[in-house]
Amino acid sequence: MANIAQSRFLTVLSGQRMDPVPVWMMRQAGRHLPEYLELRSQAKDFLDFCYSPSMAAEATLQPIRRYDMDAAILFADILLILDALGLDVRFEKGVGPIVQTVETGADLQNVAIEKAVQRLSPVYETVERVRGTLAPDKALIGFCGSPWTVALYAIEGRGGTDKSSARIWAYQKPKELQILLDVLVEASAHYLAAQVNAGADALMLFESWAEGLPADVFQEIVVKPNVKLVNRLRDLGVTVPIIGFPRGAGTVLPSYARQVPVTGVALDTAISPEFVIQNLPKTLPIQGHLDPLLLIAGGQAMDDRVREILDAYKDRPHIFNLGHGVRPETPIAHVERVVEILREGH
Ligand code: CP3
Repeated sequence: MANIAQSRFLTVLSGQRMDPVPVWMMRQAGRHLPEYLELRSQAKDFLDFCYSPSMAAEATLQPIRRYDMDAAILFADILLILDALGLDVRFEKGVGPIVQTVETGADLQNVAIEKAVQRLSPVYETVERVRGTLAPDKALIGFCGSPWTVALYAIEGRGGTDKSSARIWAYQKPKELQILLDVLVEASAHYLAAQVNAGADALMLFESWAEGLPADVFQEIVVKPNVKLVNRLRDLGVTVPIIGFPRGAGTVLPSYARQVPVTGVALDTAISPEFVIQNLPKTLPIQGHLDPLLLIAGGQAMDDRVREILDAYKDRPHIFNLGHGVRPETPIAHVERVVEILREGH
């Protein structure tokens, strides 16, 4: 990639500290932006929006124009892979995603992965368009959901549940779950490799539902599939940095960071800087982790917390971000304020 030297985001992922720190925010595109709502009203539904390279590229670029973030994240969704693998995926207003469920782990076993990955070609076209427009000092992040998180939607049919059916599956049908996870590892590796071939400068693996798992289960369904996915990506010749986000891992976060060969780790809202400093290697690039609710609240408490996070990680390679995504009700002025504080530097 020709732009490695200039991108502050990629410089931090190479292990160097930057002052001011680079910043981007999960879900920086989307419903808190009036320009997104306007664009979104032109699409039939959310899937159509994601599969329209012109609209998805525009949505990817909107937060860069407005906030001058250091990185853009591809506008897509972690559930597109399930759609491509042949499950019915819908996004319902006020409800969120609804996914056709699998009955057994073998349901997806005979799907032609190559064809599924090809079906996602509009996503690669979005990446190409964005990379063609984005300034060279801005990085473009491609992504997918990690296998367990995506499997959970295929088993439960929706998010926002207590995840108990999927977790009971993990105990009752461990071999079937393994088959499902392996299909997702293979499909996701090819999907991400295609994003990189189209111009993505870095990748992020969203393991949004890593919370609450007993340590041995975490090892089997979070750590091992993520290790497989990263290794498979490297086998496929992908060399770009990869950020892992095991949201809610808690005390097993260091175990994830030790075993999954990611370049950097994204931190969630709940983990404390003290824990991070004591338990993650000082050389490991980290990304995070302002509470998205404090971004809604704003005021002095938000300003103070931004400075505390900056200060806590001043000796580490750090990319500023939230601990989870920007919520639709977030005031634009608060995002602007955070970026302003960060640009002042330490
Ligand atoms: O700015 C960005 O972050 C880029 C795009 C992006 C979206 N989804 C767009 C989106 C990314 C990186 C995702 C990832 C994603 N999707 C995750 C992992 C991150 C996380 O939040 O934990 C998960 C779990 C999903 C699944 C998903 N997609 C849910 C649960 C929902 C409904 C909740 C909601 O916010 O509406 C979606 C829909 C979705 N994905 C929207 C956007 C902008 C809202 C759709 C709309 O415009 O109506």
